[in-house]
Amino acid sequence: GIEAHFSPDFSLPIQLEEVTDSTNTLARQAANHVQEATAFMAYSQRAGVGRLNRPWQSPMGKSLSLSLLLPDFPKDLPVYLLSQITAASLCQSLDPYLDNLGIKWPNDLIANQRKIAGILPIFDQDETGRSYVILGIGLNLFQDLEDFPKDLQDKAGSLKMAVGFEIDIDQLLAKLIEDLVRAIQAFKDRQDGQAFLAICREKSLLIGKEVLSYEGDKPARQVKVLDIASNGGLKVKDLKSGQEEVLLSSEISIRTQ
Ligand code: BTN
Repeated sequence: GIEAHFSPDFSLPIQLEEVTDSTNTLARQAANHVQEATAFMAYSQRAGVGRLNRPWQSPMGKSLSLSLLLPDFPKDLPVYLLSQITAASLCQSLDPYLDNLGIKWPNDLIANQRKIAGILPIFDQDETGRSYVILGIGLNLFQDLEDFPKDLQDKAGSLKMAVGFEIDIDQLLAKLIEDLVRAIQAFKDRQDGQAFLAICREKSLLIGKEVLSYEGDKPARQVKVLDIASNGGLKVKDLKSGQEEVLLSSEISIRTQ
């Protein structure tokens, strides 16, 4: 099971729920009165939300939902970069268990061509205008293929499916949160962003590939992915016009073809 017993060597209050609507909601409610970084976790969500407002499945006993509330987040730090740093940090924590872990920009962790985790950072302001971030992470731990909705069964996966044996989840999650808090602290202190980007480049499943870029309602464009830009965006070349540009994650969705 995923009874987690954390003993991290840093202080991060963790509120753990059996089931909740969405850990993002818990974090948002706390944002007005909580002054320190706090983790909201749940073993199951009734109404988890993913990127582009898609529903996010978090079945009991099989998944982990985490929302990190980061109060007083500097307004000038790019949200796109926070996504990348989070992806790199998760990759570092999960790498010892997996041979074939990759990042699909901007926010998917992929093992054996299946998405095992998603990342969703939200920038917002409390009632007094102080800006905070809720960093949402959904991790698929123990699902089997039939636990996913039919339409996701060709691309969704779990740690269990990727690793092939049951891993010590307590140990993994404690390490994952610890790595993550360190990574975010380094980012806030404006150190080390480039080191995390190097991991994103090394683990990128898109660099060098020709992909389809969907921007809002516009027709899809064929682009070649060149790099992860230093602001966390995706550097691409439009295959028709030959123009190079940096795409930002809030605006687009990428499909490999
Ligand atoms: C994605 O679309 O890939 C991002 C998924 C993010 C889901 C997480 S689970 C914890 C937090 N609570 C939510 O309702 N969503 C995020």
